[in-house]
Amino acid sequence: MNLRQNDSPRTRHRPKSPCWLQSSLAPAKVNLLLDVHDRDSASFDFAGYHPLSTLMVPVRLYDSLSFESIPEDSGNESQIKFTLRDRDTSDGVPGDERNLVVRALRLLRERSGCEMGARVALVKRIPSGAGLGGGSSDAAAALMLANRGWGIDWSADRLSTLAAELGSDVPFFLDHGGAICRARGEQVERIPGLRPFDLVIVKPAVALSTAEVYRRFDELPGGATSLEQSERTMCSLVADLRRGAIGQLGRWMGNGLQAAAASLSSWVERLASDFAELDFAAHQLSGSGSAYFGVCRHASQARRLASILRSRGLGRVFVTRSGF
Ligand code: C5P
Repeated sequence: MNLRQNDSPRTRHRPKSPCWLQSSLAPAKVNLLLDVHDRDSASFDFAGYHPLSTLMVPVRLYDSLSFESIPEDSGNESQIKFTLRDRDTSDGVPGDERNLVVRALRLLRERSGCEMGARVALVKRIPSGAGLGGGSSDAAAALMLANRGWGIDWSADRLSTLAAELGSDVPFFLDHGGAICRARGEQVERIPGLRPFDLVIVKPAVALSTAEVYRRFDELPGGATSLEQSERTMCSLVADLRRGAIGQLGRWMGNGLQAAAASLSSWVERLASDFAELDFAAHQLSGSGSAYFGVCRHASQARRLASILRSRGLGRVFVTRSGF
């Protein structure tokens, strides 16, 4: 979805048509490298957040969001009418105003002065509490749809600043390429030319809270990586991803939150040892977990390894590919 690069001075928001209706896919992501830095290495106040460097790529596992604008003079207070269709009801994604989609739309409405409403339906397929970015991706899709559907036409930069208020990962999802994300995750540098790869993701029944994993990270000794070390590893990882050297990725991949997540849930070690027995090119936790993924050399290997993992009853198993 293309956003206009320049804000146009408007006194009134106009939708593309009286009842603009469009759908969008919201992809998941995995973190191929996630380094957490010492707080004192950050040049500004993180207000409790951790400075990090992470390389994220979108993966072809999608939620989908439909957005229908409601004109402001329709007499029904033009609010956000939200419906959640959860493919796996055990996920516990909020189906009311606590959902990040509704919070994103309310925030955009408030900041832009737009008085229109929307009928929004979200179909969830990305597991939550997984470190796969599902909620953040949904919020970004909602912002992009509303930006057009409500005729707000904010620039990508302005939308990204708003997105960062909703969550550290939300700006990443405003575009659909791989990126290195820094600061608390909201500073996004797009990295073009990354070759796609096949992967298998397992989401165990347990969900992990990002805030709790970061708290545990602080309690454990020695988890931080220097900025310099991280930049060097990132360069090697990007170079190998650009030339499609899948067999080399394991040399550079890593997740600084994995030890903290493992000390909160025994599932992390269980998944790590099951993946280690199989011939994945590389494997690790995604984000703060609990989803664990393995990089494969080709699609048929991914299907074969997924069927072995399925037979072990570890949780939900997804065979997918990086990219949008
Ligand atoms: O930004 P987001 O809402 O996704 O973050 C959830 C929680 O994870 C934060 O409240 C914070 O406790 C933790 N976090 C952190 N450092 C980051 C990102 C998230 O400590 N860079």
